[in-house]
Amino acid sequence: MATPSEMILTAGPSITEHEIAYVTDAVTHGWNREWNGYLKRFEAAFAAYIGVRHAFATSSCTGAMHMALKALGIGPGDEVIVPETTWIATAASVTYVGATPVLCDVAEGSWCLDPAAFEAMITERTKAVMPVHLYGHPAAMPQIVEIARRHGLFVIEDAAPAVGAEVAGRRAGSFGDLAAFSFQGAKVMVTGEGGMLVTNSDDLAERLTRIGDQGRDPKKPLWNTEIGLKYKMSNIQAALGLAQLERIEILVERKREINARYAANLGDLNSIAVSGELPGCRSIHWMSSIEVKGADAARRDAIMAALRTRNVDSRPVFYPLSSMPPFERRAENPVAYRIGHSAINLPSGHNLTDDQIDHVSESVRAVLG
Ligand SMILES: Cc1ncc(COP(=O)(O)O)c(C=O)c1O
Repeated sequence: MATPSEMILTAGPSITEHEIAYVTDAVTHGWNREWNGYLKRFEAAFAAYIGVRHAFATSSCTGAMHMALKALGIGPGDEVIVPETTWIATAASVTYVGATPVLCDVAEGSWCLDPAAFEAMITERTKAVMPVHLYGHPAAMPQIVEIARRHGLFVIEDAAPAVGAEVAGRRAGSFGDLAAFSFQGAKVMVTGEGGMLVTNSDDLAERLTRIGDQGRDPKKPLWNTEIGLKYKMSNIQAALGLAQLERIEILVERKREINARYAANLGDLNSIAVSGELPGCRSIHWMSSIEVKGADAARRDAIMAALRTRNVDSRPVFYPLSSMPPFERRAENPVAYRIGHSAINLPSGHNLTDDQIDHVSESVRAVLG
């Protein structure tokens, strides 16, 4: 295939007449008495899909994680264990409540929190752990929850990119005390910006109802009993979210097909490893990725630059958080440091055609020589 005339981007949503109809209805009628009709439907349908009792639609996953940490009473002097390899939002939310993120290595194969490394980093200050379902691959939740319970720690899942991922027969987001999802415009389902905080606990749900509404007393109009937060989603975004959720199986399947096509096209190359799936896991492959074996950051960046000359965009896998100025390095975390130098996210959006996947694959092959 000849080089396409436009850059093949790493992400892009799938928007149909179904989404347009719901958003048009919400923007036309969703005011006054109808102000939260789509919000209620979206929250109820999302909770049912994940398999939890309560869901709160938010303006971002970052905001949802901030709410979660505040609801659990985590604050100054507390430590929260977070994987090295994640978007900054996971660790940043810990700092919003004055606590300290402690950065832990990730596991081979999933690039998600390594349960053994997590257990080794627990101190008397540790209050919670935040496993991340990185790029849509589920973290080892049964082991992580078992370790957390033994040490009396809360579990907050950062399920930002993992709507529909499963491990041990259960959906990501149904294991922790709380879990947060993202619907930012590059995710598997989108609301522009947006998120969802879910929990099975009626007590936490009651706390979140108040915290999420600026500390307002639900029984006394405009009376605030504490300082809360405001990360609410709008009804218009909820209309888009509900329509996307009603198509979630199609959206997830396409992500899995994209990954399978990359694996079929590139699986014979010994110099790279294509992102896969560990036993007992269903990854949604939000971002298909390759690790260039033995590459340092300079070679990884050169490969990405060469791909760009063929109109193939890509992203570096997240830098280890502790390699960046805001964070402290407490452990070596060799897997996170290796993939943070050598791995790349390939174009994985819903707008990709099979021909484009094949062009990306041919380009990877050519660039690697
Ligand atoms: C692992 C992870 N956590 C958190 C977030 C933050 O989500 P949001 O932008 O909705 O706050 C993202 C977004 O890319 C993410 O990938």
